Amino acid sequence: MEQSLILVKPDGVQRGLIGEVIARLERRGLRLVGAKFMQVSQELAETHYAIHKGKSFYDPLIRYITSAPVMAMVWEGPNAVAAVRQTMGATRPTEAAPGTLRHDYALEVGRNLTHASDTTENGIKEVELWFKPYELVTWSREVDRWIFE
Ligand code: RTP
Ligand code: MG
Repeated sequence: MEQSLILVKPDGVQRGLIGEVIARLERRGLRLVGAKFMQVSQELAETHYAIHKGKSFYDPLIRYITSAPVMAMVWEGPNAVAAVRQTMGATRPTEAAPGTLRHDYALEVGRNLTHASDTTENGIKEVELWFKPYELVTWSREVDRWIFE
């Protein structure tokens, strides 16, 4: 089953939106596999955002993600990566579609509430980076057969 790493970033945590993010992913039909509330270290932030090193927004991005606790989660389902990114909306909140989280709750790209893996491969890599195997739960729901074809 495809998995995606989701972060409720420090702004989402500070604004009390952890529950809203979880509610939308649950409602979508995705299945929660792991979750932890944590302070992101400088080292983890730099590894996670290594692809953005050298870009103009890199330093503020590292400061942002380490500025306060985050809620890190793994969600799975068919096409989980695409489904989650659709639910989050475009990176820039003013380009996010109405009804998406970033449209409904954000204004600025540097305060855009959430992270979600952008490809299947990065989903695998990011889940490995953020979670130990024993922190992930393999389980099924009675309702799965009514959501997963
Ligand atoms: P994320 O990785 O956080 O899920 O976001 P994303 O894929 O939609 O966007 P990405 O291009 O990976 O950028 C990572 C995060 O960096 C901040 N950013 N700021 N000032 C800017 O132009 C700019 N561009 C990106 C955002 O917080 C974005 O989510
Ligand atoms: Mg990204």
